Amino acid sequence: MSRIVLAYSGGLDTSVLLKKLILEGNEVVAMTIDLGESDGIAGTGARAALEAVRAKALDLGAYDAVLIDARERFIGEYAFAALRANALYQDVYPLSAALSRPLIADLLVKTAHELGATVVAHGCTGKGNDQVRIELGVRALDPSLVCRAPLRESPLSRPDAIAFARERGIPIAHTAERPYSIDANLWGRSIEAGVLEDPWNAPPEDAYAWTASPAAAAPVAQEIVIAFGAGEPSVDASSGAAMVAQLNIWGGAHGIGRIDLIEDRVVGLKSREVYECPAATILIGAHRALERLVLTRDELRFKALADRRYAELIYDGLWMQPLRTALDAFNDSVAPRMTGEVRLRLFCGNATVVGLRSPHGLYRERLATYGIHDAFDHQAADGFIALQALPLEAYAASQRAPVGV
Ligand code: ARG
Repeated sequence: MSRIVLAYSGGLDTSVLLKKLILEGNEVVAMTIDLGESDGIAGTGARAALEAVRAKALDLGAYDAVLIDARERFIGEYAFAALRANALYQDVYPLSAALSRPLIADLLVKTAHELGATVVAHGCTGKGNDQVRIELGVRALDPSLVCRAPLRESPLSRPDAIAFARERGIPIAHTAERPYSIDANLWGRSIEAGVLEDPWNAPPEDAYAWTASPAAAAPVAQEIVIAFGAGEPSVDASSGAAMVAQLNIWGGAHGIGRIDLIEDRVVGLKSREVYECPAATILIGAHRALERLVLTRDELRFKALADRRYAELIYDGLWMQPLRTALDAFNDSVAPRMTGEVRLRLFCGNATVVGLRSPHGLYRERLATYGIHDAFDHQAADGFIALQALPLEAYAASQRAPVGV
């Protein structure tokens, strides 16, 4: 018998796991984390739903059940660090699920320490990325903890899970019938499986819950201003998790942030993944636009490479890699200049940047202008071109008459 902390969502799989671990004779603590997955949908009773998840765990015989509100921490420590890196895996996916896993690992370890558990457990299967991310996080924080993945030990089919739930009196929500595998938090919602497994099939409208179809989105454009202060965004004086939830609602109404990706998983296979990430899409677009105004050309060229590497580290579950903290230090070093405002127009699936200003902007109208107050030294270009051309001319000459021939 062990005391086990189980990452518990309240869904069919983790409810079956909870029961199975109890039947093995363990004391199981169900740990449920609020990452704001329902905060982007206007009018849902998100808090009440999570309280019900906690109550369900206790009903099923959990030794204890904890509900942790990690929304501000998730956005402040994880999502905004990724925002400073413009983190997009394979150029398009804002890493919503990937960013939450090291936080889940951290909370599993903390809860295990607090409640004297020696084992932590999660409901990931053996072919996904999330098992890797959670377990690398746990090992980096406390290698003495045993990490169990019961669905990897013995995979459970959907019908078996439903049959087990019926036998053992586990209530099955109608969501058990849903055709997709869903993961959601404030940074985005991911949709997998079902008809999406054939990459030729266009994602059906019922795959999306946060975004209107761009074709049927709000008919009038909405203009918003995102203010960055040392790299931290705010909108109309709202910041953190509340601002992200608001941007999900606004962006969703305009059909922004739908992503359809043939993705390279950590475990080596390709899979088809669909996402809707309105807030992350808007914020990353705005952040990049401000960077182009305030960072030097050399900083931007280097940062594009560093940002790509950052996204790969997060995707691969290497949040605890010191390279990630080193890249954070680089991003933090430019962040003080990342102050300014970005004006965006939300319309028909796009968040278009239409205006920029910053006290640290490097754009100089008198140098860029084609008007009469032009301060640019046109003659200087002549010498510049002559010197830039030297290696090209040497090479061209060598092609005409190779040395030694
Ligand atoms: N493929 C994404 C990732 O690895 C999302 C996985 C989330 N899980 C899900 N059941 N939809 O980051």
